[in-house]
Amino acid sequence: MRGRFADVWCVDAEPDMTEAVRAKASAVAAAHIHTITVRAEDLPAEPDSFELIVIGNAFHRLHRALIAERAYSWLKPGGCLALCWSTSPWAGPQDWQRALDSTLRTWRNVLGAAGRVPPGWDQSRQRDPDHDVLSRAGFESAGRHEFSVEHHWTIRELAGHIRSTSFLPSQVLADRTDAFDADLTAELSRHTAKDRLTETVSFAYELVRKPALA
Ligand SMILES: C[S@@+](CC[C@H](N)C(=O)[O-])C[C@H]1O[C@@H](n2cnc3c(N)ncnc32)[C@H](O)[C@@H]1O
Repeated sequence: MRGRFADVWCVDAEPDMTEAVRAKASAVAAAHIHTITVRAEDLPAEPDSFELIVIGNAFHRLHRALIAERAYSWLKPGGCLALCWSTSPWAGPQDWQRALDSTLRTWRNVLGAAGRVPPGWDQSRQRDPDHDVLSRAGFESAGRHEFSVEHHWTIRELAGHIRSTSFLPSQVLADRTDAFDADLTAELSRHTAKDRLTETVSFAYELVRKPALA
């Protein structure tokens, strides 16, 4: 986004995530990237102030109807909202992905974090799909696009990626972080001789538009 917009606001409820963005922005001296640690539902933004709102792998975590309404008001007429999605490394069919999934399950139980993603969390989205929520807020559909990319992970990168999830962030790992990293490394090392785990990641974005003024 940084080369295409005069100002970019990066919003996340967790300070670790905004800190990660702040570090990246400062590494490339991008002073027009602003980070804000706040629940998206509470973002203090002016009406008609954004050209584009991008929600990365998070719409399912938000109060969807409220955010759809607020996003509609925050966007300029003709502006777009993009819901971005990607597949997760623990959700694939390969042996290392199954081992990762099982390690994560174990640790979610060990750390009492299983309830951070409540059972049946996706049922309300099945009953009331994202697209309907957005349409009720006044958005018109502007298309869905998908593409796949082969991606290589080191175990350390996977450990970092896991900290960006809602279910095992740093504050949940807390004083068990080293033990978690050691276990993850032991489990995944069985599946790679050269610390290189490969998967095909599918990306998708659903684009909706606030109608332009007539
Ligand atoms: C799977 S991560 C995606 C992170 C990042 N957007 C990306 O695309 O890589 C989901 C993120 O949603 C954030 N989140 C969950 N509920 C939120 C809320 N109500 N407001 C803002 N952020 C929220 C979590 O803190 C977490 O960083």
